Amino acid sequence: MPKKTLTDLGDCQGKKVLVRVDFNVPLDKKTGEVKNDRRIRAALPTLRYLLDAGAAVIAMSHLGRPEKAKPEERQFLTMDKVAAKCAELLGRPVRKAANDVVGPATTAAVAALKPGEVVLLENLRFDPREQKNDPTFAAAIAELGDAYVNDAFGTCHNDNDASMVAVPAAMKAAGKPRAVGFLVARELDVIDGLLAHPQKPVLGIMGGAKVSDKLAFIAALLRKVDHLLIGGKITYAFLKARGVDVGSTKVDDAEIQAVQGLLTHVGSQITLPIDYVVAQSDNLQQTQICEGSIPTGYEGVDIGPKTIALYQAKIANAATVIWNGPLGWFEQAAFARGTRAIAEAMAANPGVTVVGGGETAEAVEQFGLAEKMTHVSTGGGAFLAYVEGKPFQSLAQIDEK
Ligand code: 3PG
Repeated sequence: MPKKTLTDLGDCQGKKVLVRVDFNVPLDKKTGEVKNDRRIRAALPTLRYLLDAGAAVIAMSHLGRPEKAKPEERQFLTMDKVAAKCAELLGRPVRKAANDVVGPATTAAVAALKPGEVVLLENLRFDPREQKNDPTFAAAIAELGDAYVNDAFGTCHNDNDASMVAVPAAMKAAGKPRAVGFLVARELDVIDGLLAHPQKPVLGIMGGAKVSDKLAFIAALLRKVDHLLIGGKITYAFLKARGVDVGSTKVDDAEIQAVQGLLTHVGSQITLPIDYVVAQSDNLQQTQICEGSIPTGYEGVDIGPKTIALYQAKIANAATVIWNGPLGWFEQAAFARGTRAIAEAMAANPGVTVVGGGETAEAVEQFGLAEKMTHVSTGGGAFLAYVEGKPFQSLAQIDEK
C-alpha cells in the first residue's frame, strides 16, 4: 500500500508539523563546520512545501554518535551550525529551539512559533532515550506537533530510534496524521522501481572496504542484476581467497571468510578487476600497475587501466546500473581514477543510474556528477538495508493512503 505523502496531509495552514530529517552531516574535525550539506539540501523541498502552505515546522535530527564521541568531538555535535547552514540554504531563519531536546524551553519555543517559521530541536541523541525508543520521550516530542513527517531516509533502518518509530506511534495514538516527505517518497519510488521492474540488462557495481558487512546486500543484488563488477578493497579479499598473493594489502580473515560463498560466481555473474594500481605501503607515491600477484611491500589502491576500460564498456551496455562503494582510495587524488571513471561512465549512460549513499554519493558529488545520475541516495546503511529487503519499522508507522 502506498504511504501518505505531504500532499495527503490536507490543509497545513496554522498547523505545527514535526519533520524528522536526517541532518547527520559530515563535520570538519577541527572547526565543527558542516563539510557536506547534501542531506540538508535534499530536505529543502519538504521544508519549503510545508512553510509555503502556512505550517510552522519543528525539524529534528540526530548528529553523529554523541554516546561514543570524545569530549572534544562532542562539543561540535550541537545543532547550532547545522541550523545556521539550513537557514542559509533555506533562505529563512532557522533557530535551535532550546539546549535540551525536550522540556519547558522547547515547549515555549514551539508555542511561540508562527506559520512559516522553523525551529530545529537539539541533537536528538543528546537524550539517551532517543535510541531506546522511549515512550515518555516520544510522547514529549509528539505533543509538540499536529502532524508528523518522516523525511529522514538515511535513518529509516534504525528501528530503535524514538524519533523514527515511537514518535509516529505516539502521534497515531493521539489521532495525528503521519506522512513521508518528498525525499523519502522519491527514495522509495526509485528503489522500489529498481527492484520490481528494472530495465534490463542490469549491472551492479560493488566497491568499498568491508565485504563482511555487505553480504546480505550482495546476495540481494545477485538476485537482481545480470552482472556484478567488483572493485575497491573488497577486490583483495576475493584475490586472497582465490590464492593470489596480495602483497602488503591488509585483508582480515573475516573478509576472506565472507567472500568464500561468492567465489563460485566469479567468472560468470561476478567480474573481478583484471589489473590494479598498487602503491608502496611506506611511500604511496611509488606506484605500479599489477596483474596477478602484488609484490611484497605494495598494496592495492585502485583499479587499473584495463579494468577501467572493461568496466566502462560494461556500463555503456547496461540499461540499469546500480553502484555502491568506491573502486579505490578516492580521497587521495592519485587513486581516484577508477572511481571517477566509473562515475563518468554512469553519467554518460542514458539509462537508469542509481548510486548508493555514504562514500559513493560523496565521491559522485566530489566529481560534480551527482546531477547526471538518475538518483543518488541519501542513505548509506539505509540504502543497503532497503535493497536487502529489510522491513523498516519507521515506514510501517506511516499512514497508508
Ligand atoms: C547514517 O548516516 O547512516 C544515518 O544518519 C544513521 O546514522 P547512524 O548510523 O549513526 O545510526
